[in-house]
Order: sequence, then structure tokens, then C-alpha cells
Amino acid sequence: MSRVALVTGGSRGIGAAISTALKDAGYAVAATYAGNDEAAAKFTDETGIKTYKWNVAAYDDSKAGLEKVEADLGPIDVVVANAGITRDAPFHKMTPEQWHQVVDTNLTGVFNTVHPLWPGMRERKFGRVIVISSINGQKGQFAQVNYAATKAGDLGIVKSLAQEGARAGITANAICPGYIGTDMVMAVPEKVRESIIAQIPAGRLGEPEEIARCVVFLASDDSGFINGSTISANGAQFFV
Ligand code: CAA
Repeated sequence: MSRVALVTGGSRGIGAAISTALKDAGYAVAATYAGNDEAAAKFTDETGIKTYKWNVAAYDDSKAGLEKVEADLGPIDVVVANAGITRDAPFHKMTPEQWHQVVDTNLTGVFNTVHPLWPGMRERKFGRVIVISSINGQKGQFAQVNYAATKAGDLGIVKSLAQEGARAGITANAICPGYIGTDMVMAVPEKVRESIIAQIPAGRLGEPEEIARCVVFLASDDSGFINGSTISANGAQFFV
């Protein structure tokens, strides 16, 4: 039987590349999405990967959605908490709504995704939790007080889960992508984006597949001693 993997925000951007790479590596994959029905349907048509719609910010919706996935595919062995949004604004202009939207999705969303799966992973003595953080959680970013706070929070989550899960065969790790060529980065004003690319020693944006390959590595049975770690994949833009 194939292991089962769930990828939140798994039908677009980095998430789509992760879903596809896990499928290619032999996993039975479920991808979640929040709102873009058209992109999700297209993704399923192209890849054969089933998509499920729910809002990761809502605990009850997340729990019910995860139960449906497990009824369809079997117990989830690998969970990739990838869903994330930006609501960028300089701090003096950031609204409480922009703060809460980002925290609810990017940080509470990780709790809402992993927490319902944790007891099953403990019982089965196997689990892989992979959280997609960001270079901006490591270094901070102008206009991203909200986003950077959540992405730094991801690192606290995995370091704590790693300690709790280690004896139960569960690992929890984070990946900190740098700037990757997705819709999220393309939404940054062109001039700002050009100045960001100029700060990347690799001289280019990363590709979603470069993050997906890190996920496949961390998801594998062989990576069991890598726990609580952070893989930075940023073209040498920033070192911890
Ligand atoms: N560093 C320093 N100053 C900056 C800056 C930066 N990175 N970006 C903008 N500024 C300055 C501008 O030059 C401008 O200065 P002046 O007033 O002197 O001209 C000021 O900040 C911006 O003021 P505005 O009133 O024009 O700002 P705004 O309310 O229109 O907001 C913005 C514009 C939202 C900040 C926009 O510039 C932006 O989106 N910046 C990019 C933020 C960013 O990098 N986000 C990362 C997205 S990708 C991602 O998040 C994925 C990942 O994980 C890596």
C-alpha cells in the first residue's frame, strides 16, 4: 500500500509542485485548496490528484475535511502544511484585519491541519510533518510583520513537535523557501521584485520543483533521524 500524503494549498504554486512530486514518488496524494475552483479542477485534470476544498483557518472544517480524505485514501502518513497568504503593508498601514487573516491562515492553519492528524500518527508510530515556512520568517521583511511572524512561528512549531513526536516515529521539519517564481512573488510590484532578485546570489528566482524535491526527501522513511530541522532553499540569499 502506498503511503498517503496531504498537501494544503496543494493545487497551485509551490503546493502543486509538492503534490505532483509526491505522486511521482509513489504516494497517494490529496491536495487542499481554499477558493480557486477553476485552478483546482484544472490541476486534477492534469495530474489525476484529487482536490478537497476547505479553509485551513477553521478548525472544524479542517478536521472534517481530513476525516473525508482519510475515508477516501486511508490514514494520512505525511502532512505538508503549505497553505499560506500574504497581506503585505508597511506596519504603520497594516490593519488588524490584515494581521488576523495572515495569522489565522499561515499559523493557526498549521495547528488546524496537524493537530487532528497527530493522535493517529502517534498510534501508528509513524508520521512526517513538513511545514513550508519562508526566508522571511528567518530574516524578516519590509511590509511583512504579519507574514514574517507566522513563518517564524512555523519554526517554533516544528522544533516543539519534533521533541514530542520523536519517540513515536514522527518527524517534524520546516523548509524555508527563498523567493520562488509563483503567483505570490509575481504579485510583488515589478520594481521591488527586480530589486529582490538583485539580492539573490544565484541571480534568479527559485523553481517550485526545487522546494518539492526537499519535501520528498523529508517525507521518506529514510529521513527518520532528521527531526526539528530547517532546510533553507534560497539561492544563497540568506544564511541562518
Ligand atoms: N525596503 C525598504 N523600503 C521599502 C521596501 C523595502 N523592501 N519596499 C518598499 N519600500 C519603501 C518604498 O520605497 C516607499 O518609500 P517612499 O515612501 O520613500 O517612496 C515606501 O517603502 C512604501 O511606501 P508606500 O506608501 O508606497 O507603500 P504601500 O502602502 O503602497 O505598500 C508595498 C507597498 C506593499 C510595501 C509594496 O512595495 C510591496 O509589496 N513590497 C514587497 C513586500 C515583499 O517583499 N513581500 C514579499 C512577498 S513574496 C513572499 O512573501 C514569499 C516568500 O515567502 C518569500
